This record gives sequence, C-alpha cells and structure tokens, in this order.
Amino acid sequence: MTRVLVLNGPNLGRLGVREPEVYGSATLADLVQATQRWGTESGLDVEVRQTDDESELVGWIHEAVDTGAHVVINPAAFTHYSYALRDAAAQITTAGLLLVEVHLSNPAAREAFRQHSVIGPVATGTVAGFGLDSYRLALSAIAARL
Ligand code: DQA
Repeated sequence: MTRVLVLNGPNLGRLGVREPEVYGSATLADLVQATQRWGTESGLDVEVRQTDDESELVGWIHEAVDTGAHVVINPAAFTHYSYALRDAAAQITTAGLLLVEVHLSNPAAREAFRQHSVIGPVATGTVAGFGLDSYRLALSAIAARL
C-alpha cells in the first residue's frame, strides 16, 4: 500500500485551544483521526505526526525520502523561514515522490510575514484555507496522482 507521512510542525499540538477563531475547534487528536480515516478511504497507508522541533521534522522528511513515502506537510511557522526544511523538502520531489504543503488557514489572506512560503516552490502543490479539509484534499490529490 502507498505510504504517506502527514507531518505537522510547531504549535499544531495546540489545536483546539490555539486561536480557535483562526484554526477551528478541532484538536490534533481529531486531525489525526480524520486524516487516518481519509487515508484509508483513499487506499493510502497514512501516518500522522506532530513536532515542535525543526530537526525532528527534517529527520522525518529524510525518512520519507529513504523509505519512498509521499508527504503531506503543514510546516506551520517554519513555512515562512526554514531553509533547512526547504532543503529537506526539495529532496522529496527530486526523489520522484509527491509533496503537498497544507494549511488550515489561508496564509495568503493573513499577515504579510505569512504570505511567503519557502516550501511552496519545492512542493508538488499546496492546499490552504479549508481547515481540516485541507488534509482531505491533499490526500485525495495524492491518491488521484498514483
Ligand atoms: C498554519 C499557518 C502558519 O502561518 C502558522 O504559523 C501556523 C499554522 C496553518 O495551518 O494555517 O502555525 O500553517
């Protein structure tokens, strides 16, 4: 079965209590449950992880490249400035794997510093602004490409 790592960056463990007016009331546990269900429905073997640690996220991307897993990533604030994450992410598409950047909110409609992604240029595509549904859309885009 096609493996997909769904990786979540800093502060996404705080979903549900963190700015619910922006990110919604669903918790990370809700996100994990829904994403795994959507993966199963799309015939994908999905594993969801979250970390606040940049080096852990980089390590998970290396793992995806080395094991041939596609990646859905919400890099959270790292989206906007982590060149380390970008350099890791670039290896995914170079390896012929799919990389979908996702966001719960629509960063393009928010503060200026959120309007630039250093990950977007090395991603296969981006889904933003649909809350948890951004993850469902990302998984269905991957399933459609296989
Ligand atoms: C986010 C948007 C980022 O700008 C922010 O730093 C996050 C969450 C989103 O999912 O909307 O932590 O990635």
